[in-house]
Formats: sequence, C-alpha cells, structure tokens
Amino acid sequence: MKLILSSLATITAVMTLLVNAALAADPAAVATETATNTVCPVTGKPVDPSITAEYEGRKWSFAKEACKTKWVKAREDSLYQKLGGKGAIDAAVEAFYVKVLADDRVKHFFDDVSMDKQRRKQKEFLSAAFGGPLPWTGKDMRKAHAGMGLTEVHFNAIAENLVNTLKDLKISQELIDQVVAVALTTKDDVLGRPKK
Ligand code: HEM
Repeated sequence: MKLILSSLATITAVMTLLVNAALAADPAAVATETATNTVCPVTGKPVDPSITAEYEGRKWSFAKEACKTKWVKAREDSLYQKLGGKGAIDAAVEAFYVKVLADDRVKHFFDDVSMDKQRRKQKEFLSAAFGGPLPWTGKDMRKAHAGMGLTEVHFNAIAENLVNTLKDLKISQELIDQVVAVALTTKDDVLGRPKK
C-alpha cells in the first residue's frame, strides 16, 4: 500500500513538473489565464491595472486611457486584423510552407531546418510585421538569412508562394498587395544587400 501511495505521489509530482514546463514554454498560455503585461505596450511605462482591453482572448493593461484607445485603434486598423487575426495568419503560414516545401527552387534550403520551429517563427514574424499585438523578438532578417547564398530568384519564389497561398485563401487583391509591400521591406536584408 505504502509503495502504491509513494508511486502515486511521484507520478503526480512528475505530471505537475511537465504541465509547468509546458506553460513556461508558452508565455501566452499563462497570460491568457491571469492578467497580463506590467509594462504599457504604448509608452513602456508601468501599467494601471484598472485600464484593460481584451484582444484575441488575452487581457492587456495600459498606463493611461489614451494609450488603450490608441492601441485598440492600431489593432483595428492593422493588416493583421484585416487578414483575419491570429487564426487566419497561422493557417496561411501552414499552407505557405506546404507550397514552399514542394517548390524545387527553394525547398532544399529547409532540408536541415526544424519546420515546427520555422512555422512558429514565421507566424510570429509575419504577425508582428502586419501589426499584430505581439512584437517580434527573434533574429533580425539580415542575420537570420546570412550565408545562405540567397538570390532574387529565391526571394521571388518565396514571395510567389506567399501570394498564391493568400489567393487560395480568397484574400482580396488589395490586402495581398499590402502583404507583398511588407514582404518587400525585408528584401535587402534577406538577400544580404547593402542597406539603401
Ligand atoms: C519575405 C521574405 C522572408 C521572410 C519574411 C522570412 C522570414 C524568416 C524568419 C522569421 C525566420 C526565422 C528567424 C529566427 O530564427 O528568428 C527565417 C528563417 C529562415 N529562412 Fe526566411 N524569410 C524570408 C525569405 C526567405 C527566403 C527567400 C529563403 C530561402 C529560399 C528563406 C529561408 C529561410 C531558412 C532556411 C531559415 C531557417 C534558418 C535556420 O533556422 O537555420 N527565407 N525566415
């Protein structure tokens, strides 16, 4: 009996550790359940916890009412929200990499790359670039693509796959043009060209 109880205690302890590790690996998972950021996303100053807004199931706090108004308006006006927000962008990135990995012009670049990580990073990068609520905290595009020998042909192939993905998803041409404009802002960095 003693042995069974002590085994149960060990199993419970291990389960708790695993759940905590999973939550720690995804800060958003924690933030959705409790309140939120301590620093205002607009001013960088400490927040007033009574000034909050909810966005995509997550609660955000702000330093002042004016910050909240500005931030909420920025979300509403964003390309991110016009494209359909997190769900739509995540789905687009999944479909995009199906195309990329079937494209002989570029698929070999991803031979030794963890595609789970790549899809996650690309979702985060594009979400931030389109005006989503979370900043990009990964590598800058010049460093991320340094030494790969990328050319115009490769960049255009990636852009073409992105455009075709959005067309498949019936995104309007007006929004596709805006996505392309954002993608083009990374071109000199991705191709390692001198800054203009
Ligand atoms: C619109 C242009 C592009 C964007 C926005 C973009 C975005 C990104 C991002 C966000 C990462 C992850 C960076 C990190 O780890 O923090 C990445 C990595 C990578 N990108 Fe791109 N990329 C672009 C073009 C290209 C092109 C043209 C190629 C090759 C055909 C390419 C191949 C790769 C590869 C192989 C990695 C993984 C590097 C590694 O983990 O070792 N990317 N890219």
